[in-house]
Amino acid sequence: MDLLKAISERKSVRSFKPDSIPKERIEEILKLTIHAPSAINLQPWEFVVVIGEEKERLGRRLIKAYKEKQIACSPGNVKPLPKTYGKRGAKTLELMKPFFEEMRVDINQYVNEGSCNFYGAPVAILLCLDDSFPQVRMVDIGIALGYLVLTAHEFGLATCPIGLITAYEDEIKDLLNIPENKKVVIGVALGYPDSDIPINRFKSPRDNLEKFIRWID
Ligand SMILES: Cc1cc2nc3c(=O)[nH]c(=O)nc-3n(C[C@H](O)[C@H](O)[C@H](O)COP(=O)(O)O)c2cc1C
Repeated sequence: MDLLKAISERKSVRSFKPDSIPKERIEEILKLTIHAPSAINLQPWEFVVVIGEEKERLGRRLIKAYKEKQIACSPGNVKPLPKTYGKRGAKTLELMKPFFEEMRVDINQYVNEGSCNFYGAPVAILLCLDDSFPQVRMVDIGIALGYLVLTAHEFGLATCPIGLITAYEDEIKDLLNIPENKKVVIGVALGYPDSDIPINRFKSPRDNLEKFIRWID
């Protein structure tokens, strides 16, 4: 039953305490993460775990890249997004707004620069995929991401998936010596939540199930 509780409680956190996490705990989380299913049990995921001063260096490098290139958080759609989806994103931002107002910060700056710095988390995990795999193997990485965030929650830790950093993949690969043939699919900020920061009180809503489901009986 703990799993059901973790699923309903988990949320993305956007401010972390600087307190470090023992390597053993990170390994424990990843050991459970790799129980995720994958096609033909290929286990295509690779994790680059960045901690300590290297994590701080990565954050600084990504914020610099963001300031230079100004690529911001966006849905990254390849054709115009049907209204339903756009509305959901806009509603979420609207609901987040009062928390950022309370913090007296600019929402775009906080989210974009915060994402680049993994919101101050002591651990940045990059989920990578060999480029010999087809696009569909991203599904496997997505499942692993789900396992990771839920396992972290179960250990009393918080996470935020960070897709923005993939816009700065060249900088990441250069800084961390990630081989050219590896794709950085998604990052995850991992740490203890800073519960004094208003935005961490925010819990995003979900549409009613009937909006997503079509029964064929
Ligand atoms: C693939 C993916 C990429 C994401 N990228 C970012 C990001 O770059 N910055 C950020 O603040 N949140 C990011 N998020 C977190 C989402 O905004 C968050 O999951 C969504 O608003 C739902 O909220 P919840 O995780 O609290 O349930 C990302 C989530 C996913 C699944």
